[in-house]
Amino acid sequence: MIWRIQFPVETRPAGRLPLETWNLKLETDAVHGHRNIFNLALIGFMGTGKTSVGRLVADQLHFDYLDTDDVIQGRTGRIIADIFSTDGEAAFRKMERDLVGELAARTKTVIATGGGLPADPENLASLKTHALVVCLWASPEKIWERVKNQTHRPLLQDVDPQQTIRELLAAREPFYRQADVLLNTELRSVREVAQQTVHQFRLEAYRGR
Ligand code: S3P
Repeated sequence: MIWRIQFPVETRPAGRLPLETWNLKLETDAVHGHRNIFNLALIGFMGTGKTSVGRLVADQLHFDYLDTDDVIQGRTGRIIADIFSTDGEAAFRKMERDLVGELAARTKTVIATGGGLPADPENLASLKTHALVVCLWASPEKIWERVKNQTHRPLLQDVDPQQTIRELLAAREPFYRQADVLLNTELRSVREVAQQTVHQFRLEAYRGR
C-alpha cells in the first residue's frame, strides 16, 4: 500500500495539518480499484462534523446512515457517558470493536464513527475491507470552539479539556492519517465538506468500474 501525501510534512507545525489541505491522500489501493468499496466511513476527532457531514453525504449518495455511538447507545439502552462511568472506557472500546466487525456485512452505508474508534488499528483495517475511509480534520483550537458548550462527551469532562483535546489529537493523528482521504474542515461549511466527501467517494469508489 503506498501513501503519497501532497503537503510537505516536514514543514508543518507539530500536531497540525495545514489549513489549505483539502485532499491529502493521493495514491491508495482504493484509488487503484484493489479494494472493495461498498460503504463510506467517516473518522476523525470529536467535533470535526462526522455526524452532520455524514447525514448530508448519505442523503446525496442515497446511502443509509449509521453512527457507531448511536448503535451502541441503542443496543445498551444507555448513553455513552454512562457506559464510560459505569463499565469503563475499555468496555466501551470492546463494544466498538464488536460493532466494527459487524459493519463488514453492510453495503451502501455512510458510517460515522466515534472519535477514538480508529485508534485501534484493527478497527481501521476492518473498515478498509469494505469502505472508503475519509477523515475529517480540524485543529485543537477549532475543535474546542465547536465542543466547548457540549456536555455529552465523557473524555472532555475533566479540568482541562483543551489540554485533553491537544493530547488526544496528537496521539491519534498517526491513525487519522491512515485514512484514504483527509479533509480539512476548518474553513469549510458542513455542506462544502459533504460535497467534497461525495466527490472523493465517487472518484475513488467507482474508479475503474
Ligand atoms: C470518543 C468520541 C465520541 C464517543 C465517545 C469517545 C473519543 O464520539 O465515541 O465519547 O474517544 O474520541 P464523537 O467523536 O462522535 O464525539
